[in-house]
Amino acid sequence: MEFKLSELQQDIANLAKDFAEKKLAPTVKERDEKEVFDRAILDEMGTLGLLGIPWEEENGGVGADFLSLAVACEEVAKVDPSIALSFEVHTMLCSWPIWKFGTAEQKAKFLKPLAEGTKLGAFGLTEPNAGTDALNGSTVATKNEDGSYTLNGSKVFNTNGGEADVTVVFASTDKSKGAKGMSAFILEKGMEGFTYGKEEVKMGIRASVQRELVFQNVKVPAENLLGKEGEGFKIAMMTLDGGRVGVGAQALGIAEGAYNAAVQYAKERTQFGKPIAKFQAISFMLADMKLKIETARLAVYKAAWKMAQPDVKSYSVDAAIAKKYASDVAMQVTTDAVQVFGGYGFTREYPVERYMRDAKITQIYEGTNQVQQMVISGAILR
Ligand code: CAA
Repeated sequence: MEFKLSELQQDIANLAKDFAEKKLAPTVKERDEKEVFDRAILDEMGTLGLLGIPWEEENGGVGADFLSLAVACEEVAKVDPSIALSFEVHTMLCSWPIWKFGTAEQKAKFLKPLAEGTKLGAFGLTEPNAGTDALNGSTVATKNEDGSYTLNGSKVFNTNGGEADVTVVFASTDKSKGAKGMSAFILEKGMEGFTYGKEEVKMGIRASVQRELVFQNVKVPAENLLGKEGEGFKIAMMTLDGGRVGVGAQALGIAEGAYNAAVQYAKERTQFGKPIAKFQAISFMLADMKLKIETARLAVYKAAWKMAQPDVKSYSVDAAIAKKYASDVAMQVTTDAVQVFGGYGFTREYPVERYMRDAKITQIYEGTNQVQQMVISGAILR
């Protein structure tokens, strides 16, 4: 067992870190305040190869692995958690299922441009009445005589929604079959009847976009069915396993960003004639933050490593542990970082309040932390 990154993994981490510090850091505050998603940033990440990290070269990727992707996501999240989210959804929730279940034609048409960054991806599962109960959605795909499908329904909270060129969407093809009655489809921006509704106004990750997707008699060609008919729920769940590793990496980066700011501030801020870092109340708080970050890193890196092992059948539990643990750590560490900053931490002058707002959603999306407990306890008690 080695506890160090390979040369390629380290090079990718350095590339993402350099990009985040030079390109994202100067504008992150402004993007959060204006609540704008800047698509050009994702385009630039594509040019650098960051959107194709784990995919083979023939699929437009750079031929690295999921641990490289996790460390890249972590580096981006240290500076801009919103961009890390768009990046994670694009790669783990849209590209991954096409890579895993797509035909050669689907990979050439969709995965390659997603990997090269000329197309942006999204993932549509959640509906107003089907969040945790993901199987209970009301979006329906009716099969036509020519083999195509007609989609009707809507999706909510769709990250990259309205911007994405390619969206993996889940719809019921036979409600009576339960988990075997859902299917996955690749939808393209501009398909007739595919429009966008409400854009969410949020507490955090404000420089990412979440929109409602609306399907009114959208005709989806047979060649856009992803996997087999009836495999959709399995595809959604397997995709979310990987997504949860990505959220874990994002949460880890958020915790580290807030921690780094808190350490620096504790050394600079003086009270009672000495830096506040010299007070045990502060130094022990910093020690606990560091402890939590390093243990979260082990969980996230292990799950990311496991994703790439050919002999591993399932990494659902590892992904659930990584996601739950790292997101809880992100919430605790960012809250403590605000505390270290005192009154200034509560102002928008310093970044820690933003990290705290951004951390909260990592305990909720891609399966609430209670869903992660369901996954872990389900495996223990099976
Ligand atoms: N891999 C493969 N198959 C899986 C699986 C996995 N990880 N998880 C479940 N399945 C299979 C089961 O084996 C079962 O198959 P059989 O019928 O053949 O036995 C089938 O799926 C049904 O499984 P369950 O009975 O466990 O399903 P359930 O309805 O009880 O749901 C759940 C379980 C864990 C609650 C699941 O619904 C879930 O994860 N819900 C949360 C959904 C979620 O994460 N949504 C987030 C969407 S994306 C987002 O957050 C937005 C964004 O922009 C970031």
